[in-house]
Amino acid sequence: MKPIRVGLIGLGTVGAGTFRVLQRNQDEICRRAGRGIEVVAVCRRDAAAARAVVGAGVRVESDAMAIATAPDVDIVCELMGGIEPARSLVLAALASGKHVVTANKALLALHGSEIFAAAREAGLMVAFEAAVAGGVPIIKALREGLTANRIEWVAGIINGTTNFILSEMRGKGLDFATVLAQAQALGYAEADPSTDIDGIDAAHKATILCSIAFGVPVQFERAHVEGIAALQAADIRYAEQLGYRIKLLGIAKRRSGANGAVGIELRVHPTLVPKDRLIANVEGAMNAVMVHGDAVGTTLYHGRGAGAEPTASAVVADLVDVTRLHTADPDHRVPHLAFQPGSLATTPILAIDAVVTAFYLRLEVADQPGVLARITTILAEHEISIDAVLQRESAEGEKHTDLIILTHDTVEGRMRAALAQMQALPTVLAPIVKLRKEELG
Ligand code: NAP
Ligand code: HSE
Repeated sequence: MKPIRVGLIGLGTVGAGTFRVLQRNQDEICRRAGRGIEVVAVCRRDAAAARAVVGAGVRVESDAMAIATAPDVDIVCELMGGIEPARSLVLAALASGKHVVTANKALLALHGSEIFAAAREAGLMVAFEAAVAGGVPIIKALREGLTANRIEWVAGIINGTTNFILSEMRGKGLDFATVLAQAQALGYAEADPSTDIDGIDAAHKATILCSIAFGVPVQFERAHVEGIAALQAADIRYAEQLGYRIKLLGIAKRRSGANGAVGIELRVHPTLVPKDRLIANVEGAMNAVMVHGDAVGTTLYHGRGAGAEPTASAVVADLVDVTRLHTADPDHRVPHLAFQPGSLATTPILAIDAVVTAFYLRLEVADQPGVLARITTILAEHEISIDAVLQRESAEGEKHTDLIILTHDTVEGRMRAALAQMQALPTVLAPIVKLRKEELG
């Protein structure tokens, strides 16, 4: 059988890695796919750089649209990133009858509904394993391997750059800027690293996981997103003392109404996780995703979430899937979001005030009698139960100290009201630090 023909749009970290892996492993890949997978055309604006990657036998286009609509291309692989022109190129490829493989989580988190609808209409596949957790096959696991389960929650380290930064800062005592430069040099960081640092990249991925876990449309605009820029070394230290590590987690959780509203939590923020959980020990640019299903219990998926070949591993897996399935009846393929398109739920994504979680609070307070009592009274008045308290030993003559409080689960809105009251106390001397804590048991 003739090889299936692929056009690569974007030949940077992931594109060049994909080309390399396809070349190197072509025999194995052909034996798995049932036919060869051949890159017939590539595109990047710097044509000389493209030629340097692919050598002589592959067509190099300077116009990405020429690949999206090329008559000799069966699968378009969008590996350029960003929203436009990527969105137009993907829609044009679908309109030209081509299947699409993409690693572009930003595009799917923002425009997934439009793209999946266009693909369905045309009876085509849009495959996106590389869009979440790079080389870790979490989309496949969630969409197919766990399909028997009612998923209760998904929580993951899904941004390698921030995990690398948090690990190096904690482990080696390096400063933020030095570690960020290293992450960029290693090809982990997005073109604009603030996308990583501010939690946006993780939120794109969490949005996709949320849709597949719960069968709801992609709704990035409803995600609550906090990054790591404001995180302070003192809190990393205090968390350690209390038995926790701080990780930037993407969380999607079902709320059944037993404790607050009915809906889905979709959030990304620095999170205290017990030190003895496997996920707390995932370091460097590694990713890990925990999924809790009612039948299987808790499962963990771990591996490289970024970088050229780990990401290429997922892109090529999608190419093989599309090659195997492209002659199948579209109704017999795995739905893009795991649930049949007509069966997507309208369950709301909850506002952050309705989220239920435990908290870590750090208050810089005057070191005098009654201060702790006043603070615990405010928490009690808001029905917030305390789990642990730690007070830093004051130095000789020091008039203030740090008070660290861990709470049990509470509704965020209640905590917000209590914090406003605590912050107004004259004995609270600086803005209160509030972090969320998850046991992930
Ligand atoms: P990258 O290294 O910046 O590569 C982007 C490529 O696209 C470059 O070859 C660039 O070449 C080309 N490009 C950009 N604009 C173009 C245009 N208008 N027309 C034609 N070519 C264009 O990015 P990357 O890290 O490979 O990421 C690619 C995608 O994979 C993104 O969606 C990213 O989020 C996703 N992803 C990346 C990783 C990772 O570890 N890096 C992991 C998972 C997913 P020219 O500048 O020469 O045009
Ligand atoms: N910038 C992303 C990360 C690349 O650091 O995880 C993989 O999506």
